[in-house]
Formats: sequence, structure tokens, C-alpha cells
Amino acid sequence: MLKIESISKTFNPNTINEKLALNKLSLKVDTGDFITILGSNGAGKSTLFNAISGNFFVDEGRVFIDNDNVTFVPDFKRAKYIGRLFQDPLKGTAPNMTIEENLALAFLRAGKTKSTFSKISKNDENIFYEKLKMLEMGLEERMHTKVGALSGGQRQALSLLMATIVPPKLLLLDEHTAALDPQAAEKVMFLTKRIVEENNTTCLMITHHLKQGLHTGNRTLFMSDGKIILDLNEEERSKYTTNELLEKFKEGANKELDNDRIILSE
Ligand SMILES: Nc1ncnc2c1ncn2[C@@H]1O[C@H](COP(=O)(O)OP(=O)(O)OP(=O)(O)O)[C@@H](O)[C@H]1O
Ligand SMILES: [Mg+2]
Repeated sequence: MLKIESISKTFNPNTINEKLALNKLSLKVDTGDFITILGSNGAGKSTLFNAISGNFFVDEGRVFIDNDNVTFVPDFKRAKYIGRLFQDPLKGTAPNMTIEENLALAFLRAGKTKSTFSKISKNDENIFYEKLKMLEMGLEERMHTKVGALSGGQRQALSLLMATIVPPKLLLLDEHTAALDPQAAEKVMFLTKRIVEENNTTCLMITHHLKQGLHTGNRTLFMSDGKIILDLNEEERSKYTTNELLEKFKEGANKELDNDRIILSE
């Protein structure tokens, strides 16, 4: 579904700040894969998502989505089939608009409304109500509340709903629960797994939580210095202990896993 062939990206070339952020990275993702991505600080995880989304064009290599070569397709065109969530819960929603208006925007943007004049129909409103109800946060009764008044967890759950209200071909989650309190993080993670499963969405999720990475989805990648140094399927990742995995990472990366970033606890 997604095929990345040996992509590289250097920031600030020929300057003192030159940084090779992606180094001949290749990756093949099958439809329905739910892949977690772990790695130390500055490993290139977010940059990989930017390359997939088309925030910049790669210096070399090619990107295919569903066999279409999108290497030089700009981000706004790729946005139609890519949903993306960031760490910051404020990023995915418009604070001065109501819950309903935010959902309407996401719905219209995905271009799936049946209305002739890009308007939200009564039927669309019913869909919003049912989808919000699924979050079990009572937001369906607060449709006309401005999003700025919601908690971080509520906003992130709403962002998740907006990114998936029309199921995208590919969902990119960049540490989307990292800025939330533990309870809200757990709730958003639960919703993520449910939504991804229900729609069989192809999903890549960056996390700095080792256990979460190893127990979510069907495959785990470890990144270091712009490369994928470990790529484990479900069977492989379940047979190693945490210590063995850290040892493998060390071998592949030629350095310790940055413990500041990777949370090793339960
Ligand atoms: N727009 C940019 N301009 C210049 N340098 C950048 C840019 N984006 C990323 N970088 C650099 O590329 C490297 C990879 O950054 P990236 O954000 O992809 O890391 P990451 O793996 O997501 O790290 P973290 O776990 O801290 O989020 C870093 O050294 C970063 O400073
Ligand atoms: Mg990052």
C-alpha cells in the first residue's frame, strides 16, 4: 500500500547545520498493517512522516502509495488519503469553532459529503452525533461548544475522529498520546486501536513507550540516524525480552537507545 524506496533527506545542505535526517531508507507497508515506530531523539521518525505526507520532496529515492508514484506530488494533494495526528492536541482542531464545525470541516475536506453545495446535511449531523457518542466523553451533547473549551484528551480524541471520520488510506500518528495525562492517553490509545481495527486502516504510529510499541499493531520498527535498524513482525517481537531488544538496537545503531526518550517501564 505504501512503498518507500531508498529515500534520503538532508536539511541545511552545505552549511554548518547540515543534517542527514533520512539515509537511504526503504520500507514496504501492506494494506491493514499497523506498524509502531520507536527510536531515539532525532532518529528521523517525524521526518519520515513528513516525507510520506509530502511536506518536502526527498533528495533521492521514491515514494509510492497504492502503486502511484507520489514522490513529487505536493502535500495538499496527498492529504486527501493521509490522516495525521501530532503530539500537540491543539494542532488538529480549530479552537474558535464548535465541535460540529470542526467535524464538518474534516468531513468536507475529505470530500465524501453527498450534498451538492458542500453543506452538512441532517444525515451528516446524525453521523457526527453517533461518532462522537462512540468516544464516550459526552461530546455528542456539546456539539455547539467551542473546541477551545475542551481538555487536551478530549481535543485529541476529537482530532482522531476528524482524521478518521472518512477513513484515510493511511493514518500517521506522531506520539499522539505523549502530551496527555496517563488516563487521557490510555483512553485515546484505546480509541485509536478500536478505530484502526474497525476500519482495517493502514497505520504507522510513532511512540516513545517501548512496551506500548511492542504490544500495539502487528509490526515494530526501530529507527536510528535516519535508518530503520530493526524491523520485527509480531512473532519476532514477542519472542525477545526487553533487554534482548535493547541489545539488538545497540548492535544495529552502534549506540545505546536514548533512555531519555524511550520509556522502558510498563
Ligand atoms: N525542518 C527541519 N529543518 C532542519 N532540521 C530538521 C528539520 N526537521 C528535522 N530536522 C532534523 O532532522 C533530524 C531528525 O529529526 P526528527 O524530528 O525526524 O526526529 P525524531 O526521530 O522525530 O525525534 P523525536 O523523538 O525527538 O521527535 C534532527 O536532527 C532534526 O533536528
Ligand atoms: Mg519526532
